[in-house]
Amino acid sequence: MTDQSPVRYRREGKIAFIDIDNPPVNALSAAVRQGLAAAVAQLAQDEDARIAVLSCAGRTFIAGADISEFGKPPVAPVLPDVVALIEASEKPIVAALHGTVLGGGLEVVLGAHYRVALPGTRMGLPEVTLGLLPGAGGTQRLPRLVGLDAAIDLVTSGRQIDARRALELGLIDDLAEGSDPRAAGEAGARRLLSEGVGHRRLSQMAAPTVEADMLDAWRAKVAKSARGQVAPLRALETIVDGLALPFDKGMAQERQAFLDLMQTPERAALIHAFFAERRAAQQDDVAGATPRPVQRVGIVGGGTMGQGIAASALTAGLDVTLVERDEAAAAKAAAGIGKMLDGAVKRGKLDADAAARMQSQAFRAVSSYDPLAEVDLVIEAVFESLEVKQEVFRTLDRICRPGAVLATNTSYLDVDLIAGATTRPQDVIGLHFFSPANVMRLLEIVVADSTAPDVTATAFALAKKMGKIGVRSGVCDGFIGNRMMLAYRTAADHLVLDGASPYQVDQAVVALGFPMGPYQVGDLAGLDIGYATRQRKAPTRDPRERVPVFADRLVESGRLGRKTGRGYYIYDDASPQGRPDPEMDGMLAGIRTDLGITPRDFSTEDIQARYMAAMVNEGAKILEEGIAARASDIDVVLLHGYGFPRWKGGPMHWADATGLDWIAADIGRYAEEDPYFWQLSPLLARLAAEGGTLAEPKTGKDAA
Ligand code: 3HC
Ligand code: NAI
Repeated sequence: MTDQSPVRYRREGKIAFIDIDNPPVNALSAAVRQGLAAAVAQLAQDEDARIAVLSCAGRTFIAGADISEFGKPPVAPVLPDVVALIEASEKPIVAALHGTVLGGGLEVVLGAHYRVALPGTRMGLPEVTLGLLPGAGGTQRLPRLVGLDAAIDLVTSGRQIDARRALELGLIDDLAEGSDPRAAGEAGARRLLSEGVGHRRLSQMAAPTVEADMLDAWRAKVAKSARGQVAPLRALETIVDGLALPFDKGMAQERQAFLDLMQTPERAALIHAFFAERRAAQQDDVAGATPRPVQRVGIVGGGTMGQGIAASALTAGLDVTLVERDEAAAAKAAAGIGKMLDGAVKRGKLDADAAARMQSQAFRAVSSYDPLAEVDLVIEAVFESLEVKQEVFRTLDRICRPGAVLATNTSYLDVDLIAGATTRPQDVIGLHFFSPANVMRLLEIVVADSTAPDVTATAFALAKKMGKIGVRSGVCDGFIGNRMMLAYRTAADHLVLDGASPYQVDQAVVALGFPMGPYQVGDLAGLDIGYATRQRKAPTRDPRERVPVFADRLVESGRLGRKTGRGYYIYDDASPQGRPDPEMDGMLAGIRTDLGITPRDFSTEDIQARYMAAMVNEGAKILEEGIAARASDIDVVLLHGYGFPRWKGGPMHWADATGLDWIAADIGRYAEEDPYFWQLSPLLARLAAEGGTLAEPKTGKDAA
């Protein structure tokens, strides 16, 4: 340990204190691993030390291996060796936990001889969420401590448990009072010293037996929830195979499995997603701007979105004033919000007293704009009409105090035109929440031409406070997400016009890892929404644009999707999730004949390639137009707003991993059939030719 080491060793009387201080989350970097190994060696040599307390400074105990080191050559000592050194210590080591004890952090703890946690501590082995498995003994020590069922559950799901549950499972020995982990560790160490309790080394405990029936049930369960991912099943097999071996051999095969998974595209994609989510919040151009304080929020419009946004804001501890058109609508919105909060209480996400307090003290629903004079920020969520929204913003301009942030939740409309209805366009921004807004974590932050930097900074701070992932978008029709969706939906519609069935398309998309295909999504959202948009755009439509006549036909015959029991699918008691409609083939055949289209066969791979190519091509256009600042922001939008499979990292990451040259060549072929829709993005064309990537688009000329 050098003076610069993030690990410090100090002794007071008979107790040695090993403190880790590696902000922000005490990740197990090479320096921490080296420091821990040195501290354990010092403990052995320190004749006056009888016991040690291992604790961490800052907001959390060790939150895991240092993810930024993954993919690079390993630096000694590797973590399994450090944990083995801790466990082998002749003097007991007490781990004192607080914050989030995750992954390699929990594995270090399993190497210790006694575990005490502060209230509020959360623990877990989230490695599978990064495409990995616990690689420092977690698969072998945890089952010996808490039993097979609990260990399989924690390792294969990656979920976290709280300290109370950890105590029930025997994962910790004691749940301490107070807020000082070091003091809790010291109290535990004094007790052990006075009681003369010896070592408990988990590697020396008997392995639990594995019943064949139970294993089959776990395999089935994990295969179902892991859909398309390799790590959870590999983790299950690693636990079970290892337990049949002597401990050392079990450890060796865990290490091999960990190293194998480290090489998978799934691991690269999941870690890309982890960092992409955090990078989205980094806004260099507003870094110096101070966010405006926001405590009182106004919401205009208490429909689907207004209610969800209100529930989400209240849960985040904000005061909410909701304005509706009349008293009846205000009361209806209030009831809807109450229901959402009650739902959160039922799901154990919210305390019942807190929910009641939010509704009685922090919330009011009114039919007058006047109370908005007091608020710090307003979110408008009225009908999607430019005229209606401009009228609302003219009113807000008149009523709100100077400096209040005025935000619109529009899905498609031009935020500059909305801002232009006010005398303070610098205070106007888009906050595009996703439905249901009290559940969905994505928030597109739409920065208009005249939006002030501190307003953008306020939006990002609000996103964080509300537990959302804010992603910046420039102004364009549909911003990042809905613009991407329009592109891949159009590719799907063309496939259906040309011979595929909507069911075939949905199946191919689900096989990619999306929870639903585009036609299932359409039925869920209501087919009338897309119909209204097509009607609105019809007068200015380019004659080369291909119209999804079949979609219009459904709506015109009253088939609006789930809400009418029939859309692309039929929904009834026998099939609440929908079943194919036997009349669909006939309707499509008639339309193709009318349009003079000779239907073609499309394979699953054809469908998937076109769907993904449309998405990637549009993403590249969004990037080159500067609507998104980085490719990874587009990935975050698709991952959190549109069901893109996380283990593929998002469309831009997927494209880089697949090869831009392949995708560009495919688009070139599709363009021979339909040059209007399949216009290759110049950025994609250049990167494909130069061997560049969307993640680092500055190659060739730009880099020079
Ligand atoms: N390695 C490196 N950096 C990490 C990290 C890790 N394990 N965990 C978090 N960070 C970084 C983040 O990138 C972020 O950096 P930034 O400020 O530059 O953007 C910073 O720490 C703070 O992170 P968050 O913004 O996420 O802070 P929160 O307070 O919201 O959350 C957390 C804290 C719950 C610890 C969350 O960061 C988290 O879940 N981290 C990942 C934990 C994890 O997956 N651990 C397992 C790693 S794999 C492993 O241990 C393998 C082993 O078995 C061998
Ligand atoms: P909605 O129709 O459910 O609700 C709109 C509400 O606004 C109605 O309750 C109406 O009474 C109220 N309203 C209309 N004019 C008003 C005024 N002048 N003052 C006060 N209240 C007024 O619509 P929804 O779905 O909530 O959409 C609202 C906005 O959110 C739209 O701009 C929409 O594009 C956008 N949006 C919708 C999403 C969705 O999935 N529904 C997702 C993201 C954004």
